[in-house]
Amino acid sequence: MPELQELPEDNIFQAYGILLLENKHRFVKKLKKHYTPSIHGHKTWNSSFLLMDYFLHKQLLNNKQRVLELGCGWGPTSIFCAHHAGCKVTGTDRDDEVFPFLELQAALNQVEITTESISFEKLTKKHLTDYDIVFGTDICFWDDLAKIHYNLINRAKKAGVKHVLLADPGRQPFFDLAERVLTKHDAELLDWYCTEPEYFEGYILHVKL
Ligand SMILES: C[S@@+](CC[C@H](N)C(=O)[O-])C[C@H]1O[C@@H](n2cnc3c(N)ncnc32)[C@H](O)[C@@H]1O
Repeated sequence: MPELQELPEDNIFQAYGILLLENKHRFVKKLKKHYTPSIHGHKTWNSSFLLMDYFLHKQLLNNKQRVLELGCGWGPTSIFCAHHAGCKVTGTDRDDEVFPFLELQAALNQVEITTESISFEKLTKKHLTDYDIVFGTDICFWDDLAKIHYNLINRAKKAGVKHVLLADPGRQPFFDLAERVLTKHDAELLDWYCTEPEYFEGYILHVKL
């Protein structure tokens, strides 16, 4: 990891080989005058670094894979997949106000991410057929989301998706989801930690379909 003074300017940080922007960055401040994410998609969340670390550790990614991110927000993990492994990535989110922030960060890292405004509930089996890996970070934060993601994982299996991965700081709805998924699918719930941009602990639910 380079020393801070090697970064191009203030309020940019590096993690797992990609550059990301703080809320205080001058371009982020400008975007915030026009776009207001309203379902917690107002920053990069730490669970995204857990999944980057897990992807590296398990060597799950390659440039043949088509990957879909659920609730991508500013898209840190989508950007990582495109940058690190050359995956073809689609970032989805119900809140289309997040996409300008994703596009800014994608441009900073010289990758292209396809974006689509769609909710978890509306992603059909037909939709999911186009993907090998489906993942999301910190997207199971309300009670009703446990059931919504459980149903989504079942649709992903029918669609032929190979892996569903969710990273989470350890919220109760995520554990409720994990409990149901572990009884139905070949899945693992793992304690995980990452070390970039700083130490952070959480969980990975890895469903092998
Ligand atoms: C806590 S943020 C996490 C953002 C990003 N994954 C990260 O780790 O930085 C949750 C994201 O899920 C999106 N979201 C919430 N409910 C959703 C739904 N029903 N369908 C699709 N996206 C949703 C929000 O707009 C937001 O971008």
